[in-house]
Amino acid sequence: MIKLPGLVDTHVHLRVPGGEHKEDLHTGSAAALAGGFTTILAMPNTNPPLVLPERVEAINAQAQREALCDVFFFGGASGDHIDQLPELAQHCVGLKVYMDQTFGPLRVEGLEALLSIFQKWPEGKMIAFHAEKNSMAVGVALAAIFFRPVHFCHVSRKEEIELIAAAKNRGLPVTCEVTPHHLFLSEEDLPRLGPLGDMRPVLGRSKDVKALWDHINDTVDCIATDHAPHTLAEKIGEKTPPGIPGLETSLPLMFNAVTENRLSLERLKALMHDNPRRIYNLPEQAETWVEVNENQRYEIKNEGLYTKCGWTPFAGQTVQGKIQRVVLRGKTVFENGLIVTQ
Ligand code: DOR
Ligand code: ZN
Ligand code: ZN
Repeated sequence: MIKLPGLVDTHVHLRVPGGEHKEDLHTGSAAALAGGFTTILAMPNTNPPLVLPERVEAINAQAQREALCDVFFFGGASGDHIDQLPELAQHCVGLKVYMDQTFGPLRVEGLEALLSIFQKWPEGKMIAFHAEKNSMAVGVALAAIFFRPVHFCHVSRKEEIELIAAAKNRGLPVTCEVTPHHLFLSEEDLPRLGPLGDMRPVLGRSKDVKALWDHINDTVDCIATDHAPHTLAEKIGEKTPPGIPGLETSLPLMFNAVTENRLSLERLKALMHDNPRRIYNLPEQAETWVEVNENQRYEIKNEGLYTKCGWTPFAGQTVQGKIQRVVLRGKTVFENGLIVTQ
């Protein structure tokens, strides 16, 4: 049995408020525990979005009541509420800045808004970007000019991870996360997955996947799921929403990669616990750990998932290493495939 610390996922969409038919605080946090995550950071592109202090205050209180693991929320940056950023910060783990098109309307357009955000958001709290391609260069420039920590979500392309590597070599305070789907899937899987392979950033080419793996030990700081559940009906419907679930498959996939000597167990711990905790300045959880049976092989299935959406693009894949037990603050919360807390 391998013992890991309670993992941290810095990028989860819990869909509350407004998308509770896809996921809610209870099902999302159950999926987190089933996947070995005892702390999750939730995104603000909800309906309405989490752009106002009172909304984040309310969702924090709701999570206290309904969530099974520790949940922290990002505030959403919006050009319409710049003056409230300092107050918003008091309720948030960080600020999420959407620079590119993705699910939902939350977006920051224009240099004026970007500048004000960097001036108003308090030092010491992270700014996290959804910034693809050229937008990422804008984010790196802002990190350099204001010389303050900036985190890049779901880096997925060769040129993007190389940009982050170059920025780090220059001593800029940038960090980044990579998702398991960008590490284990590519556009070659699209004929098989169809709409279930649609997400933002889109799946890369094989050279992109290779570049992410080539930088896994130096440039990549965190593995984050970007757990973005949508119902199967929505995914195979007329207008496919981008996003796939990931909470319950990420540790199994990453652990399987350890068994294949693609990364070390130490590195997995750094990517899924130590670095996320340090980057977002998260409190330690006492007596909290995950037990993985390193010898057990099993097939990932849609059946038995705790996420409300009930599917995974990794169904049918066999992995080595099964999550046996999760203990949170001294209490067993998941054991033998079942959530055992309420
Ligand atoms: O594929 C995605 N889905 N990418 C995002 O950035 C947002 C997410 C969602 O909320 O569904
Ligand atoms: Zn994003
Ligand atoms: Zn996301």
